[in-house]
Amino acid sequence: MEVELLRYPYLGIYVNSFRLHSASGDVLIDSGLASGRSALECSANHDSVLLSTHGHWDHIGNHGYLQKRGVCVYAHPGDLRYYSDHTWHWEALFGQFSEDFDLPAARRTTFVSEIGEEMTPECAIADGEVLSLGDLSIQVIATPGHSAGSVCYLVRETGDLFTGDSLMGEGFFGGLPQYADSLAYRDSMEKLTRLSVEKVYCDHNEPMPGSELRKKAEQGIACCERLERRVREFVAGYRGPGERMLGEAVAAVCRAEGKKPGGGICVTVLTHLREMGEADEIRLALEKHIPV
Ligand SMILES: [Fe+2]
Repeated sequence: MEVELLRYPYLGIYVNSFRLHSASGDVLIDSGLASGRSALECSANHDSVLLSTHGHWDHIGNHGYLQKRGVCVYAHPGDLRYYSDHTWHWEALFGQFSEDFDLPAARRTTFVSEIGEEMTPECAIADGEVLSLGDLSIQVIATPGHSAGSVCYLVRETGDLFTGDSLMGEGFFGGLPQYADSLAYRDSMEKLTRLSVEKVYCDHNEPMPGSELRKKAEQGIACCERLERRVREFVAGYRGPGERMLGEAVAAVCRAEGKKPGGGICVTVLTHLREMGEADEIRLALEKHIPV
């Protein structure tokens, strides 16, 4: 089975989606950015299916377009709101952090033009389910953490594993990992360390041999533990009034890591604060933020 990699550049980085050819039609994994629609046109028919790894904006730009042309869209229900409510989606991942880091104007423009139309995936998938698609058997492996509805897809016949954004290691493109539930994220990475696969296809990386899966998943766990420690250390030394706490915590973590602040690390630091937080100053800091 041939795996066709489709690449969509944006803001100096890129996102991948994939096309597999089965006996009954095309199997798409994610749909990239709306501006890359022409690459998917030949699969926009009733013979194709679309398997969504998660609901974040840069992976769903053609979901609605494909669905309207008869492509059945499979997705985990944990991310439904990302697909169907783009106002909330923007707020959850970027808008709510506009005072916490220097949010570039291009981020908003790109988000709006590339996310495609609001839609609701019609086929709900669950952990462990095996989808029989033509001559392919594709197993759903739930890997919540990056988002509640993140999944990986394992093609049983070939051992190809499609991880979406679940397998982040130390982060994509020199950034830091983004997760909305650190315990679930670590459990998911543990789960991936136990898998034996031939090849791994990520949405923001080059494909890698299956032998690297375990190392990358372990890197993710170690990085998550380190970031949690950094947030704890920041909170222990914090004397401010609370309202600016998230932005200051993000800046401190990024300084310590030698990285630039962005929406992803804001989500991650917010996650750690929320998981830590009964103290008054943390409650005050989180009051204005919505759950991701
Ligand atoms: Fe994502």
